[in-house]
Amino acid sequence: MPTPALTIEIDRQHHLPIYLQICERFRTAIAAGHLRPGDRVPALRSLATQLNTARGTVELAYTILVDEGYLQMRGAAGTVVSPSLPASVMHSSRAQEVQGAHGSRGTKDAGTPETPRGQSAPRPLPIAVAMSGAPRPLQPGMPALDAFPGKVWNKLVSYRARSGGREMFAYPDPAGYRPLREHIATYLGLSRGVTCVPEQVFVTGGYRATLELVLRSLARPNDSVWFEDPGYLLARGFLAETGVQLVPVPVDSEGIDVERGTLLDAQARFALVTPSHQSPLGHTLSLARRVALLEWAEKASSWIVEDDYDSEFRYLGRPLPALKSLDRRDRVIYCGTFSKVMFPGLRLAYAVVPERAVERVGRVAHSMNAGSPTLLQAAVSDFIEQGHFARHLKRMRALYSERRMLIVHALEESFGERLIVELPPGGIQFAVQFAEGPDGPVDDIAVAGRAREAGLAVLPLSIWYANSRVGRTPRGLVMGFANIADAEDAGRLARTLRACLDI
Ligand SMILES: Cc1ncc(COP(=O)(O)O)c(C=O)c1O
Repeated sequence: MPTPALTIEIDRQHHLPIYLQICERFRTAIAAGHLRPGDRVPALRSLATQLNTARGTVELAYTILVDEGYLQMRGAAGTVVSPSLPASVMHSSRAQEVQGAHGSRGTKDAGTPETPRGQSAPRPLPIAVAMSGAPRPLQPGMPALDAFPGKVWNKLVSYRARSGGREMFAYPDPAGYRPLREHIATYLGLSRGVTCVPEQVFVTGGYRATLELVLRSLARPNDSVWFEDPGYLLARGFLAETGVQLVPVPVDSEGIDVERGTLLDAQARFALVTPSHQSPLGHTLSLARRVALLEWAEKASSWIVEDDYDSEFRYLGRPLPALKSLDRRDRVIYCGTFSKVMFPGLRLAYAVVPERAVERVGRVAHSMNAGSPTLLQAAVSDFIEQGHFARHLKRMRALYSERRMLIVHALEESFGERLIVELPPGGIQFAVQFAEGPDGPVDDIAVAGRAREAGLAVLPLSIWYANSRVGRTPRGLVMGFANIADAEDAGRLARTLRACLDI
């Protein structure tokens, strides 16, 4: 078919790199029906000239679009819109709904099938809203609140409130309460192989506050950031707001694909990774990739942000040391949180920053007037010092190991072959995938919407992908298992979920 008249415009002030903007324009043109299966698209050179950009930039965009299934390269015959494009990809407006709901920047789930007529598909909620408030069954990332030693905690807090002195009521140290920074440094040395001094530890109000501190301290205008694809939704939304250029880098069973990242953007200033327990897929970053990532960071003078959010819980084999433990060149900023090992309402997390960045981060922390309540930091410090923390972790490892078996068995029983479930090797949440149904891929956004109406807090897996692949974006659910009470509870929840699949 001849090339249809197609005007592509790019915005050089936009936070998206040009190649991603080109991808977006093509996806939108296809979704709107301006480009149809079989249509020839402009040759690399002519589009590059039209956009006044490098040929390599257009080539990169076309490679991504081919990979995603939108385009097909036919050698001398040129590049065409894929003739086998699923009907659901064209004239699709649902993508924007998903995008708007999850604060994702200009990426969309072009592969989401339309909801079959007559099936109700409640609109998705913004993730941060969906995950706040009273905990709900199967909520991803929520630790076992029923098993937290509440009485001990209350005693520690009230002791500090009564006897902690005026320091508890004054402005906090923006870098964190010194005894807590010392405990964190000791704990990381013993349990994660991270060698650091307390001066390198900065206490923050949660992982996004950590990211804010890191970016304000070390990012420059127009910096680009490798982001795992799929990757942690809330961080993606936050980063998009900050205006850095996000470069989605695919993830496979070995973790982030460093080679691909280097091809996409060798000079990215940051790489955000979850090496111990990839969020949401759960894989561990292989040793070869760890070494490759560290080598890349050294060569490009870039920073690796290691998000080690729930590595304390590992059920198969021994816990792996942190990526930071291999970091001879001090390129890794290690990030931990108390959200999983204690409880998320505490809003306490921390970063271990390389020595050469300590002064800068300290200055920025002061200028932000960062700082979390001293009373809570002091109580956590006592919780660790008096041995409650180590005991709690030991108990939770055993408990979560049991609870994950309960949910896996219950899901297998209710869903049979409709769901691909693997025993999670670690963490307190996991991703399951739907097998393709008789009518094609399952609309996981609709299933999660119905589950939400039934009181469950599962999330659709496909929305964790920044660059969805036509007809190939995995459909499934991300769910937590730490709060399953017993086998009966697990069975009831799995049956409720199963009822949301076919209605
Ligand atoms: C991938 C990932 N990183 C970090 C965190 C910790 O975030 P916060 O410290 O804000 O609770 C979470 C919590 O769910 C997470 O899933």
